[in-house]
Amino acid sequence: MQRADIGLIGLGVMGANLALNIAEKGYRIAVYDREAPVLEKFYATAGALQARIIPCETMEKLAENITKPRPIILLIKAGAPVDSEMAKLKAFLEKGDIIIDSGNSDYRDTMRRLNTLNENDPTFVGMGISGGAEGARNGPSMMVGGTQEAYARIEPILNAVAARYNDEPCSALMGPDGAGHFVKTVHNGIEYADMQMIAEIYGILRDACHLEAKEIAAIFERWNKGALNSYLIEITAEVLKAIDPATGKPVPDVILDAAGQKGTGRWAAIESQILGVPATGIEAAVAARSISSLIIEREKMATAYGEPVAGSTFKADPALIDALEEALLAAKIVAYAQGFAVMAAASQEHQWSLPLATIARIWRAGCIIRSQFLDEIGEAFSQDATGSLLLAPAFIEKMDAASQGLRKIVAQAITMGIPVPALASAISYFDAFRQKRGSANLIQAQRDFFGAHGFKRIDQQGDFHGPWGDGLD
Ligand code: 6PG
Repeated sequence: MQRADIGLIGLGVMGANLALNIAEKGYRIAVYDREAPVLEKFYATAGALQARIIPCETMEKLAENITKPRPIILLIKAGAPVDSEMAKLKAFLEKGDIIIDSGNSDYRDTMRRLNTLNENDPTFVGMGISGGAEGARNGPSMMVGGTQEAYARIEPILNAVAARYNDEPCSALMGPDGAGHFVKTVHNGIEYADMQMIAEIYGILRDACHLEAKEIAAIFERWNKGALNSYLIEITAEVLKAIDPATGKPVPDVILDAAGQKGTGRWAAIESQILGVPATGIEAAVAARSISSLIIEREKMATAYGEPVAGSTFKADPALIDALEEALLAAKIVAYAQGFAVMAAASQEHQWSLPLATIARIWRAGCIIRSQFLDEIGEAFSQDATGSLLLAPAFIEKMDAASQGLRKIVAQAITMGIPVPALASAISYFDAFRQKRGSANLIQAQRDFFGAHGFKRIDQQGDFHGPWGDGLD
């Protein structure tokens, strides 16, 4: 029997959809799931694609059924399961074969897994996949980390199944070892920031403008035709229009306001801190999700202090709606600038040579943060591969205009007591970077006062201490 071009382990939602996508693109695929009924059901419902699918009851059979060197995609829960499945799978593979971990793995785990491989072991690729079930089935965005040699073996298959933008595949090699999973982590951090900023604007429209879900949906629908055009804006309008069959109310109105998080956004914030590159939008978004889930504490605070927006009103006139659109755009530019700055720093730290323009381009379609805006980011990085997005000529112009709306909205929201942590972080980040003389001189003085840490002067070279002695008297 003709062998498969590739294997896949883990037929959960992502794995099953990606396997069907691969088969549909004309590749033969061997599949395995440790739960036999899952494998049976997958194969039974594969329809005409069955002809290119080889269901395997064991890992050993899976390995036997793939053309060497064998690429095998793991689509299983990130963390310990990857280590245990890898250990089992390795027994049936040899040098040259490629294990591709495609879950949301921590890039540090990916580096560790690579480091523990022996000379005759298969190679290991860490690949971030974005786009959810729909993306996996019809075209995801894929961020690959691994050797050139391993990538060359899987590149044609990945390019065939990836989403396309202007007929370019949204899949690329990011660099060696952990580069792919790192880029996916930053993608998710940006996803968190983007979603939080959208939610804050929704909060203003709901609580200060007192608009109904369907009215807010219409605003997002309109914005989706302009500079904010993106998947996240599109689905925001969709969810706001949906009606709950049980109550007849808009679905968002019956959803508990406690956001879940699986960890990738938090990792992005932690990595940015480790690198010393501020990603305040991502941090604010992670913290906001955490506050949202502290329901009991929030109820106690609301009782103790009263709810902030009672009695306040924002008139949802065209000028305000335009300012909200500008605010969202400016905050989004800041969040993306931060995410790309984190990747630039990580690239230097790990000598990855992350292709920033390519990253923007493979995020233009397929992934959760896909948007036309990423096309412009790709363009900016192709002109200046190492620069800051906020200093790219096209973005200076955009930011100059849109930051006025952001400042106005943040100021008014704070006056009314509406929480806008991510939007506020964006305008403060922007202002802090624009300030030629900040207030950190005082921090330096304090540090020197209590710890003799020393400071630099603005008018002389060298290290200095203040006239305050050792600070003990
Ligand atoms: C994607 C998403 C996906 C992620 C979900 C949920 O790119 O397809 O980032 O990988 O798992 O968005 O993440 P949270 O549960 O942390 O919100």
